[in-house]
Amino acid sequence: MLCIVAWRFVWCPIFFASFLAAGAAFSGIFNAFSDFEQFQFTRSHAPELGKATLHPNLYFSQDDVPLLRQRSTTSHNHVFKVIRAAVLTMLSSRPLYMPPAKHSEFTNNWNEIYGNNLPPLALYCLLYPEDTATLQFLFKFMDRMSEYPDWKVTSEPNEEVPTAHSLSGFATAFDFIYSFLDEQRRELYLKRIRSETEELYTMSEYRGWGKHFLQNHQTTNIVAILTGAIVLGAHDTKSMTWKQVSVNYMEKTMFLLNHVVDGSLDEGVAFGSYTAKSITQYVFLAQRHFNIDNTKNNWLRNHFWFYYATLLPGFQRTVGIGDSNYNWFYGPESQLVFLDSFVIKNGSGNWLAQQIRKHRPKDGPLGQSFAQRWATLHTEFIWYNAGLIPQPPVGNSQAKMHIFSDWGVVTYGAGLPMVQGNTFVSFKSGKLGGRAVFDIVHTKAYSWVDGWNSFNPGHEHPDQNSFTFAPNGQVFVSEALYGPK
Ligand SMILES: *[C@@H]1O[C@H](CO)[C@@H](O)[C@H](O)[C@H]1NC(C)=O
Repeated sequence: MLCIVAWRFVWCPIFFASFLAAGAAFSGIFNAFSDFEQFQFTRSHAPELGKATLHPNLYFSQDDVPLLRQRSTTSHNHVFKVIRAAVLTMLSSRPLYMPPAKHSEFTNNWNEIYGNNLPPLALYCLLYPEDTATLQFLFKFMDRMSEYPDWKVTSEPNEEVPTAHSLSGFATAFDFIYSFLDEQRRELYLKRIRSETEELYTMSEYRGWGKHFLQNHQTTNIVAILTGAIVLGAHDTKSMTWKQVSVNYMEKTMFLLNHVVDGSLDEGVAFGSYTAKSITQYVFLAQRHFNIDNTKNNWLRNHFWFYYATLLPGFQRTVGIGDSNYNWFYGPESQLVFLDSFVIKNGSGNWLAQQIRKHRPKDGPLGQSFAQRWATLHTEFIWYNAGLIPQPPVGNSQAKMHIFSDWGVVTYGAGLPMVQGNTFVSFKSGKLGGRAVFDIVHTKAYSWVDGWNSFNPGHEHPDQNSFTFAPNGQVFVSEALYGPK
């Protein structure tokens, strides 16, 4: 107890001084932003109808497949092994992983697991086509999903996010294994991707998530529409509108994020990893398909710190701040290798991904959750750059203070191993939604931002002054996580 008091007295003045300093540095940034400009689609973004090799095309093309196969046994083997283990688990416990025969069983529970598991399963089949038993399992998996009348969850009639997981996963898997599908399945699956994309697009006009920015449902649903539209692109000109609208929506998201200079997300680390999963997918897809470069985005350039500087000693547990698990919902290895390959490019993202995987418990509350644990393996495999030798950030051996100037969070001693003497402290004193969003709302900076109606800080807690303390890495004062607000 004495120790806490001592820490508070010693550190609080320093914290506050640092906040003020960061605030002064920040205030000039606003002036640098002009307003959002619509991204204009041109003919070069139009689908090439009737092209011989239509798929894969979403994340890579047919020409890349031999290289990807080769990497699966060499430089990327550590990720491929995790994918293979996931596939073996799915095949050895079919009733748990195969979509149920009855539609009502599918819709009775939160069902994102099926869409989440499809891309790693399909990538495995593409990279290792000799395994015909797994390919048969995948066909049956997709047949069942395409036979259901809808992909909803009965208890959540106003919720589209489970459908979005199904659509993203189904369309991605379709793109990966198109060459293995007969004509009948191609038609059937395409029809399904088309109807689900169209429905989700239509719903975006009515639902709250269709107006929000920087929120996990918004990014998940919009990136699902975009994924569906890109996959449909070569078959269907109607998908042009869906692409145009979802790209503009996500570009507005990136425009707003550019103001969030500390790389944080107001929903906290767990939900932040959910949003970031989709944002990294978007940034990659926008670059590949529309030549839009977001890699200089301020938020993206500092997003590494959202993972590194929120990690308690031992690489297993993070600060929560908002509604939260002990750590991430999705990834974060995929987000970290993305940042390394396309943004920071110096091995520190690969290093942190390696540390997190190495120290992750197999099960228990600090392990990965059942429905989400494999959802980012395909992107991790695709984005990983083995040429970036894992290296910790400069000065990693010493405990440091890190200030998230937008989020209003300060941490000390993050990103270190669990050894005697590695003490962690965190403290929050920030504005609702983070400083940039709060100021955009209150200064009415942009006409297309409709006050708080454009945001949904639903996962935030009134946690001003939240304080955590882990002397020698042992959590002594913690947060309420997903507890009552
Ligand atoms: C890599 O880049 C990050 C972010 O700019 C930086 O903080 C880190 O120290 C760099 N790592 C190395 C090994 O130079």
